[in-house]
Amino acid sequence: MRTIIEPFRIKAVEPIRMTTRDERAGLIAAAYYNLFALHSDDVLIDLLTDSGTSAMSARQQAALMSGDESYAGSPSFFRFEAAVKDLMPFKYVIPTHQGRAAEAILFSILGGAGKFIPSNTHFDTTRGNIEATGAEAADLVIAEGLDPTSTHPFKGNMDLARLDAYLVQHGAAVPCVMITVTNNAGGGQPVSLENIRATAKIARAHGKPFIIDGCRFAENAYFIKMREPGQGDRPVKDIVRDMFAGADGMTMSAKKDAFANIGGWLALNDDDLAQAARNRLILTEGFPTYGGLAGRDLDAIAQGLTEIIDEDYLRYRLRSMAYIGERLEAMGVPIVRPTGGHAVFIDARRLLPHIPPKEYPGQALAVALYLEGGIRSCEIGTVMFGLKPDGTEVEAPMDLVRMAFPRRVYTQSHADYIVEVFEEIVARKDALKGMKIIWQPSAMRHFTAKFAPL
Ligand code: F0G
Repeated sequence: MRTIIEPFRIKAVEPIRMTTRDERAGLIAAAYYNLFALHSDDVLIDLLTDSGTSAMSARQQAALMSGDESYAGSPSFFRFEAAVKDLMPFKYVIPTHQGRAAEAILFSILGGAGKFIPSNTHFDTTRGNIEATGAEAADLVIAEGLDPTSTHPFKGNMDLARLDAYLVQHGAAVPCVMITVTNNAGGGQPVSLENIRATAKIARAHGKPFIIDGCRFAENAYFIKMREPGQGDRPVKDIVRDMFAGADGMTMSAKKDAFANIGGWLALNDDDLAQAARNRLILTEGFPTYGGLAGRDLDAIAQGLTEIIDEDYLRYRLRSMAYIGERLEAMGVPIVRPTGGHAVFIDARRLLPHIPPKEYPGQALAVALYLEGGIRSCEIGTVMFGLKPDGTEVEAPMDLVRMAFPRRVYTQSHADYIVEVFEEIVARKDALKGMKIIWQPSAMRHFTAKFAPL
């Protein structure tokens, strides 16, 4: 088989700055071993997130210039609205400055003390926005979704029996049912079309609105095309439409599968809910035809949505993750299998069994990747999830390190370099030490906590 190449050529380039290991040792110590505290020009390959970091196309750059900055009724809004509705036929599309703003608005209406909101797995901002209202967030992903070694094709699927039981148990206290596609926190794992439909059906049977967190909808749709029986010959665009057909609304970060550097939206069908959301929007984001965005951002999103469903792009995108995953596995690095859509997740707990979860094996690996190779990744484990609202600490279900790939930014030689850095780390992995936290805030500690090596 021929190499699946980057289906684009490069018209504008951005230099990356080389640093020495000695320089990086000083920089990471000064950042208290928290990769969020680094200056990004001290990073060689930045895999902290795929969010807002994608390369815009020539057509998107051109679309920026057609942006109309009128306060109300801008044509940019109508182009944005039409592009969203072309894929996700919701009645109301409400622009926001990013995904979490859509979540904050939605849960300011649906949340509140005594409410219970289930999902396959809530992303951390989603959970944070739910809990900030006093409501409880529940993750009901299938058991395979928590087993890094399982090769189930749709590890993001909702556990339908648990969802049904949860709805029976909490009844009227559940304001909506959510599902995240792909399941970011669980490894970028897809949800099958069959499971999305079944979740919608259960939600409807209990009279609950069904809301999709659609951040990586196109990657999810391509997984459906590749893996779900009967879907292989269907255009991705049709699969996307089917994914959203049974939903009552969606939250979206356009910083992911819309190729935009900023933006998001909340889409809804219900008239009253949409009216309440727009009232809130005007207070916190802006007038309903721009949300928190400039007209030029709305145009970049509109164009990005036409490009993200390109199947040559999606084939290359998913193959890039699988390529890195295969090479890491070949050298014995345990990863979350199969590789997801936007990231490769390394199972740091299994790679570094001599470092207990409360000494943060994920953080230790992330620091080593920076020190040895200038690569910035992100711990998704006990640092991120271990601190409970009452101040106690528990082990997260998994200690992972996420290497999330900006879209259309890095090439195959960058991928090969990453693999080579792993070879060096694996050769002396038993010498890696854990970390301790010397300062932390009361919530979302991974962003600002200070660490010291043990
Ligand atoms: N939902 C999911 C599944 C996400 O991955 C994110 C962001 C959000 C909601 C919030 O969107 O950032 O635009 O406010 N994920 C980024 C990440 C930050 O790195 O995974 P936002």
